[in-house]
Amino acid sequence: MKTLVIGTGGREHALALALSLDPGVSEVHAAPGNPGIAAVATLHDVDPMDGAAVTALAVGLGIDLVIVGPEAPLVAGVADPLRAAGIAVYGPSAAAAQLEGSKAFSKDVMAAAGVPTAGSRVCATPAEAAAALDELGSPYVVKDDALAAGKGVVVTTDRDEALAHAASCERVVIEEFLDGPEVSLFAVCDGRTAIALPPAQDFKRIFDGGLGANTGGMGSYSPLPWAPPGPADDVLATVVQPTLDEMNRRGAPFVGTLYVGLALTATGPRVIEFNCRFGDPDTQPVLALMTSPLGELLAAAARGDLSSVPAPIFAEGASVTVVMASAGYPESSSKGDVIVGTETLAEETDVDVIHAGTARSDGHLVSAGGRVLAVRAIGSDIADARAKAYEGIASISFPGAQWRRDIAAEPLGVVEGAALLESSDEVAASTVGDITRLDREIS
Ligand code: AMP
Ligand code: GLY
Repeated sequence: MKTLVIGTGGREHALALALSLDPGVSEVHAAPGNPGIAAVATLHDVDPMDGAAVTALAVGLGIDLVIVGPEAPLVAGVADPLRAAGIAVYGPSAAAAQLEGSKAFSKDVMAAAGVPTAGSRVCATPAEAAAALDELGSPYVVKDDALAAGKGVVVTTDRDEALAHAASCERVVIEEFLDGPEVSLFAVCDGRTAIALPPAQDFKRIFDGGLGANTGGMGSYSPLPWAPPGPADDVLATVVQPTLDEMNRRGAPFVGTLYVGLALTATGPRVIEFNCRFGDPDTQPVLALMTSPLGELLAAAARGDLSSVPAPIFAEGASVTVVMASAGYPESSSKGDVIVGTETLAEETDVDVIHAGTARSDGHLVSAGGRVLAVRAIGSDIADARAKAYEGIASISFPGAQWRRDIAAEPLGVVEGAALLESSDEVAASTVGDITRLDREIS
């Protein structure tokens, strides 16, 4: 099977690496990829947002399976011309990608499907927003309806800030605050049915202790020893299957990863958000532990025939991923800093350097984005995997590198950023306003 991975980040590197280890996969291609992916795939300089160009590439290479990594090309509809050309695609159509592309759409689907989530109101005017804030109460959660688009989600105890955010967006979803640790669950969907991969947890804030600005994700680990047993099956039954059924009723079957962002609240798991693709970096530890072939699984989903393959198998033990970001991240990023030390880890069997924002320049590996790379390790348990990941981090350096020291240190379901909201209202008014602008996902 010839495969093509679309995207440039750490998630795409992890996908390409797993495909390269699948004996059923004869070729791995990537567009545009990155220098880490180049070690396991053939790179092609094609814009992921250009559906016609991606389709021409896939047809020209005789690709059997295209896997689209990021949400932007999916929401823009890159899967549609590929499918029209008869190529199997792991990733939803433009219509089905609206589950991530529009918060109002996803809330509407959840309501119709009876999926447990935060109560919410869609508001198009300041008066509607004010009424919804008072009805649903503090802490206030205000989400731009559109895909990130530089505004995103604000969680705050400051009503004026919540109102200001609402006023700055054309349409917002205002919702009830969900209190509980967050878990990422990936459901591999074939349009009608789904299987769940083991859950992971992502550390979203830039600083240790869950403080500072929100990022694309500074580290992750899987599995979650503290999570209640069986949440995956439970969530398949109460969230994923009803959502797939509802999408079929709407004539937009969902094929690809339904990423269920869950809050484990006192009253059970509730959906914080849907994404229409694998998480980054939450996918990295999950794939590190998967010992069954990834290509076979995703190809079966893309064909609409998940029941034709055995359930995926995962190694015992744990995996931890620690991200190294460039100076200034997440507000900005530094480019061109020379990275040293990655080659010393190439011989390690339990450790991978996962590239995200890297480039080659004058024979050097250099930084080229906010999240530059990650060290991913597997071990007998979280402590073992964590020790190996941090050993790897210690052997890599570049000017201005920043990373969290507490990834998977306390895998107890901490609520990232909770300390900020628990502070007094006065502090919240001045501090939370700066640091809870939650979509600064500059990757
Ligand atoms: P989203 O863009 O929907 O993924 O939201 C980004 C982040 O905002 C989530 O990962 C949560 O940390 C936080 N968040 C979103 N919605 C809620 C909610 N209803 N209650 C509490 N936190 C939320
Ligand atoms: N790490 C969070 C995401 O991929 O959306």
